[in-house]
Amino acid sequence: MSLILAIESSCDEMSVALLKDKRELLCNIVASQIDTHRLYGGVVPEIASRMHVECVSTVLKTALNEAKVDLNDVDAIAVTKGPGLVGSLHVGMQAAKTLALAYHKPLIGVHHIAGHIYANELVEDIEYPCLCLVVSGGHSELVYMEHEFSFEVIGQTLDDAIGEAYDKVGRVLHLPYPGGPVIDKIAKEGKHSYKLPLPLNDDSYNFSFSGLKSAVINLKHNADQRGEVLVNEDLACSFQEVAIEVLVNKTIKAAKDYQVKEIIVAGGVSANSGLRDSLKEKSPMKVLFPPMAYCTDNAAMIASAGRIMYENSMFSPLDLSVKPSYDLEEESVGE
Ligand code: KG4
Ligand code: ZN
Repeated sequence: MSLILAIESSCDEMSVALLKDKRELLCNIVASQIDTHRLYGGVVPEIASRMHVECVSTVLKTALNEAKVDLNDVDAIAVTKGPGLVGSLHVGMQAAKTLALAYHKPLIGVHHIAGHIYANELVEDIEYPCLCLVVSGGHSELVYMEHEFSFEVIGQTLDDAIGEAYDKVGRVLHLPYPGGPVIDKIAKEGKHSYKLPLPLNDDSYNFSFSGLKSAVINLKHNADQRGEVLVNEDLACSFQEVAIEVLVNKTIKAAKDYQVKEIIVAGGVSANSGLRDSLKEKSPMKVLFPPMAYCTDNAAMIASAGRIMYENSMFSPLDLSVKPSYDLEEESVGE
C-alpha cells in the first residue's frame, strides 16, 4: 500500500499528482505554459521557471483538493530530479523538499525518463525483459530493461532528438509551437510526395535526425527563394514517414536481437499516431504505449516511477540537488 505525491517541473509544465498503490490515480493536475512560450516559438527557460514559481502553490492545493488527500496521509514525496531545465527543476525540487521536511516524509528523486517509461505501468504491468523506445523533446533512445528499474541504453541519437526535429520542422513550416502534434495532424491530410533522406539507416541502434531536419529546411528555403509554394501537409507527411520508418525499423531489430517479451514506448512523441500505427503493425511482439494523457510531461508518470522506488526504499537525502544532465543508467538497479 502506498500514497505518493509527485511533482514534475522539468520543462514548461508544472504538474502535481497523487497516486494510490500501483494505478489508482487520485489526480494529475498539469499547468501548461505552452500558450506563453508559443509567442516565442519555443520554451524560454527564464520565463518557464518564473511561471513555475507563480503557480506551484496553486497547483499543489488544487491537486490535494481534487484528490481529497491530507498531506499527513501521504507516504512519500517524489520529484523530478533531472534531466531538464535547471531553473524549472529547482522550483519543483524546492517545493518537494519543503513538503518532505515539514511533514516528515521520505523524499524520492526521480529520473524524468524513468517517469516516462513507467507511465506505461499506470495501465498495465510491464513484462521483462523489454525494450523501451524513448522519444521526447530531449531524448531518442533505445533502452534495454532486463528487469524492473534496470536501464541499459543500447542506442541513442547522435544529434537532435526526434521531438526537437519535429519542433524545428514545425517552425520552418510556420506551424504553431510545439510542431510535433501539428505535424502529426496535418500529415494525415498529405501524401509522401517529397523525397527525403532516410536518416542513419545502418545496423547500429543509434539515431540521427539532424540530416533529415536540414533536408526539410533546405527544401523549404530553396522553394521560398524560387517563389514556389510547398504543400505543408505533403511535407509533414514525407518528414513523418521517413522519421518513423527508421525509428520503427531500429526498434524492431533491437527487440529481436535482445529477444525481449515486449516493446514499450515512452515520451512526448509516443503520442504520435503514425508511430503508434506503424509500430503496432510491424512489430512481431506486443507493443505498449502510454495512454495519451500521460505521453507528454506530467506528474502521474513521476508518481508511478516513485511508487517503485518507494517500495524498494530508494530514498534521497534532504540535501538532494537537481541534475539538469542526468544519465538514465545512473538510476539502474542491478539484480
Ligand atoms: O516528453 P515531452 O513532453 O517533453 C520532454 O521531455 O521533452 O515531449 C515533448 C515533445 C515535443 O517535442 C512535442 O513536439 C512532441 O513531444 N510531441 C509530438 C506529439 N505530441 C507531442 N511529436 C510528434 N507527434 C505528436 N503527436
Ligand atoms: Zn518529458
